[in-house]
Order: sequence, then C-alpha cells, then structure tokens
Amino acid sequence: MLQLHKVSIIGSGSYVPEKVLANADLEKMVDTSDEWITTRTGIKERRIVENGVCTSDLATKAALKALASAKITPEQLDLIILGTATPDNIFPSTACQVHQKISASNAAAFDISAACCSFVYSLTVGYKMVSSGAYKNVLVIAADALTKLTDYTDRATCVLFGDGAGAVLLQPHEQGHELLYSYLGADGTGYEFMVLPAGGSQMPASHETVDQRLHYIKLRGREVFKFAVLKMAGLVNDAAKECNLSLDDIALIIPHQVNLRILEAAAERLNIPMDKIFVNIHKYGNTSSASIAIAFDEAKQSGRLKKDDIVVLVAFGGGLTWGVSVIRW
Ligand code: ACO
Repeated sequence: MLQLHKVSIIGSGSYVPEKVLANADLEKMVDTSDEWITTRTGIKERRIVENGVCTSDLATKAALKALASAKITPEQLDLIILGTATPDNIFPSTACQVHQKISASNAAAFDISAACCSFVYSLTVGYKMVSSGAYKNVLVIAADALTKLTDYTDRATCVLFGDGAGAVLLQPHEQGHELLYSYLGADGTGYEFMVLPAGGSQMPASHETVDQRLHYIKLRGREVFKFAVLKMAGLVNDAAKECNLSLDDIALIIPHQVNLRILEAAAERLNIPMDKIFVNIHKYGNTSSASIAIAFDEAKQSGRLKKDDIVVLVAFGGGLTWGVSVIRW
C-alpha cells in the first residue's frame, strides 16, 4: 500500500502593490460613497497594479519571499502550482512565467483555476503531491490582478476588488506546521454567478464583445452572498468533525476576504467570536485567489499563529467552488 507522508508548510510570503485606491477615489469615478462601500462590504481601500504589471509579477514577488522564508533556492523546487483567475495569458500557464522569472530550472509547473478558491485548491493539490511522495519541494502560489478585468464604470463590481499574491512552500513533514486535512467541492450549476464572459473559446474577443464590455467581470452579488455565508459555516463545521475537533479547538479561521458582512454572518451561524476570524478586507478588498494566502502570511508575520494552534483556511468562489484546509501550527 502507498505510504503517505505528513506535509508541512515551511515558509510563506505575500506581496501587494504599493498603489492605493481608496473609497474616496472611487467616489470620483462612479456614483458611490465611502459610507455605502464600508457598510455593505467592510472595504476601505485596495491595492492596484500599475499599468504594465501582470499577475506573474505579483506571483514572483510573493514566491521569492516564500522561498527566502523557507531557506530554499529556486533550483531546489520540483513543482510550482499557481492558482489564479487572471492568468497572464490563456496559455501557456502563468506558473511557467514564474518558473522563468525565478529560474526554477528543476521544477514542473502548472496553473489551477478555481476563482476565489484557487489558493485552497492549489494548496490541496500540492498537499496530495507531497503526501504521495511524488514531490519534495512544492511552491504553491496564489495571485490575481483582478483590477485589470474590472469595469471601472460599473459601481456594483469596481468597489470590490484589489490585487495581490501569496505563496507557501510545502515539504514532507519532519517538524513544523502540519497540514492535517483538506477538502474541495464544486457546483457547476452556479457557473453564471461570477463570470468573465468574453475572451475564451465560448466567446472569443471581438470588437462587439469589447463594445459590450464583456471582457470585464460580471457578478450576481446577492446569489453569491447567500451561498458564501452557508458554505463558510458548513465547511468549518464539517472540517472540525473530520479532524475530531470541536469548534472551540479552532484558534483562528482565515476565510476568503469577500465581504465583512459575509464573514460576520458565518461567524454568527458558527457561534464563533469575530476575534477568531482573520480580517484584512478593509485594507485590500477582495483579492480573489490571493486573499487567503495574503491573510495567512499576515497572520504568521503578526504573531497570530502560536505553536499547536489549529488554523482553518476556508474558501468559496466562482464556479461555484469551495474548499477548506486545516493546519496544526
Ligand atoms: N455604491 C452605491 N450603490 C450601489 C453600489 C455602489 N458601489 N453597488 C450597488 N449599489 C446599489 C444597487 O444599484 C442597488 O440599488 P437599488 O436598490 O436602487 O437597485 C443597491 O445598491 C443594492 O444593491 P445590491 O446588489 O442588492 O447590494 P448588496 O447589499 O447585495 O451588496 C455586494 C452588493 C457587496 C456585491 C454583495 O452582494 C456581496 O458582497 N456579494 C457577495 C460577494 C461577491 O459577490 N463578491 C464578488 C467576488 S466573488 C467571491 O469572491 C466569492
């Protein structure tokens, strides 16, 4: 029988662009207000890329930080997995761009597309690759430059998104921060809830698609809201049961930073206090694939993760997709 290895996170890093887009800036661009955005979403500002900067640039910066924190050189990597909803190109993969930019000459590389769940999906695939014994040094990156696909004439979407990247380095477990459990799911009947209609094989880019602004994100926010609250609460409950833990055993939940009201409603359903939910949406908005990876790195850097803490990463997003990972720190 296959001997499974335990898996550890041995390093992490994150990066957000320097340029800040505050609610006050958006007030000058569309018919909105700081008050509406703050009360409906919890977002005060977000970071956005400059012209000419793309997803692989963000991913590379986060990757180099994760490698430095893990004390691993790019040549030692044997696999790069990159989760993104905004690849540099439809093909080849953005993971291959990062491969080139960091000179990871011995690594295989591929992308994973699971919208806002791309980090947890990528982490889970990396976890299984290491636990099977197939790979030893696996770099998992999640990066998005969503503001490049955001319609800044559409107030319903343009207030929500920001750009950024996060990364972790996985290895077979000796000592360190062990990944205990991961679970993924999907429901394609919600495919239309969040979609970028044009630019793929279903609707190739044309003058018409550009005129109709179909190369920008379209969102059915109310449907997503209900789904996200129920899914977040259900996933945390189920993961605790699978790991033989009670909700009280969880030290910190790091959710996809989608909307403060969604996080508060899910915390209430779980009867978990908000100080156990990591929140940084006020600073970065929704960075999609990258949000949990950035939050995880911030939680680590700020000393929120203590030895033996149980940490739950929980994601839900376009597709629809969802996923949860449990870590013993
Ligand atoms: N400023 C002012 N008014 C606005 C804005 C804005 N930026 N955006 C919408 N409105 C208006 C609408 O036009 C509407 O006006 P009306 O009542 O006159 O028609 C009113 O505000 C209410 O609009 P709703 O869309 O119902 O607002 P809601 O309270 O649902 O908030 C939001 C919208 C924030 C998008 C919410 O639905 C949400 O968070 N949804 C889930 C998150 C989500 O979809 N995130 C996107 C990424 S997907 C993911 O990460 C999983």
